[in-house]
Amino acid sequence: MALNMRRMIPYGVGVLLLACGSASPTNDRMEADRSSGRSLFNLNCALCHGRDGKLGLNGAKDLTVSMLTKEEMIATVEQGRGAMMPYRDILTSKEIDAVVTYVRSLQKK
Ligand code: HEC
Repeated sequence: MALNMRRMIPYGVGVLLLACGSASPTNDRMEADRSSGRSLFNLNCALCHGRDGKLGLNGAKDLTVSMLTKEEMIATVEQGRGAMMPYRDILTSKEIDAVVTYVRSLQKK
């Protein structure tokens, strides 16, 4: 039993490192809040909106042409809309602020 356990541990650590390594390929560096907004976006939003915000999968809006104000975007993300789930219980208000700030930075391209 004890021997088996010891064999399991390095394997578990390897899997953990792999999972972390593939999560965020960071090429360009930005200030801390922007890059955490970006990783939050890539993790939670890119699935439907695409990494550049333009994907529009399942009726998701092209975020780069959104006319919403920052406050309206925060409300949309908190409450959800249509096929988009509410993020109120998934992200903190600080994280929602960071991810919306990142969304707005996508518009200036
Ligand atoms: C399951 C797919 C899905 C995910 C994941 C998702 N969205 Fe959406 N999003 C949508 C859809 C669909 C709409 C359009 C809703 C409608 O108007 O009916 C939308 C609309 C929006 C809008 C409003 C745009 C406008 O101009 O009306 C914003 C802002 C937005 N999403 C931001 C986000 C952010 C930020 C995240 C991550 C925290 C996210 N979305 C995650 C599907 C998704």
